Amino acid sequence: MISAEEQKKVADLVKQTKDLILKEMDEEEVMIKGAANYVTNVDLAVQNFLKEELGKVFPEISLIAEEKENLGLSKEETYWILDPIDGTTNLIRDFHMSAVALGLYEKGEIVFGIVYNPFTDEMFQAAKGEGAYLNGRKIQVSDTPDFGDAVISYGSTPYKKEKARNLFPIFYSIFMKCGDFRRTGSAELDMCYVACGREHGYIERDLKPWDYSAGTVILREAGGVVKNWKGEEPSYLKNEDILACVPQFEENLLKELL
Ligand code: IPD
Ligand code: CA
Repeated sequence: MISAEEQKKVADLVKQTKDLILKEMDEEEVMIKGAANYVTNVDLAVQNFLKEELGKVFPEISLIAEEKENLGLSKEETYWILDPIDGTTNLIRDFHMSAVALGLYEKGEIVFGIVYNPFTDEMFQAAKGEGAYLNGRKIQVSDTPDFGDAVISYGSTPYKKEKARNLFPIFYSIFMKCGDFRRTGSAELDMCYVACGREHGYIERDLKPWDYSAGTVILREAGGVVKNWKGEEPSYLKNEDILACVPQFEENLLKELL
């Protein structure tokens, strides 16, 4: 676990990435990692900054992060799990739905998480057992009772288009039953948007640990549900198909995914 003072220190460090992000965006350099998969100087600068600064405060905790190799992970360890920029495609397109996402993994669960969108200055934060907050204000999932009113966001798994033929019929079936769909381009923000009542569910296959770790503790502390598509606890150290939703729609969504 992490003390209130330590939580504040980490939140301050994450907030400091805003100036760095805006500065690095002035001279943006985009590199292609794979199909529809990019990394920029912004991602690398944020990762380097947080790696160094977290290392000074918590020298005993290693970092798992998107833009580095993450080998020899052990379930029993404690790790920071970082996506320096979740929503890199959005960042490149000036579509202001990107976030710095940082989770603290401890022996099989996420005990602390921060998701920060520097463009809207919204910081979502939660520690296990202490509630979820948006810019210091407590948040709670929506209690909308009717699935026909639900706003569901989905991820299109753009790096694995071979999955689309099986995936889109699932989305179609859900779309016909819920209110409407969203596709924001940031998995972590989607989970936080469910946490604060802007969405009612979010589904995506094959998310990497840094795409869903911080959001998990934030959503659960706001009263929401996070599972994999088999209805199990995600591992946080490997890719997972993720269902994140308000509790009253868990069954509506899970039966479409199983
Ligand atoms: C991506 C975003 C996107 C999701 C992708 C993720 P990235 O993260 O979360 O919404 O559809 O699966 O990989 O690559 O921008 O960090
Ligand atoms: Ca990323």
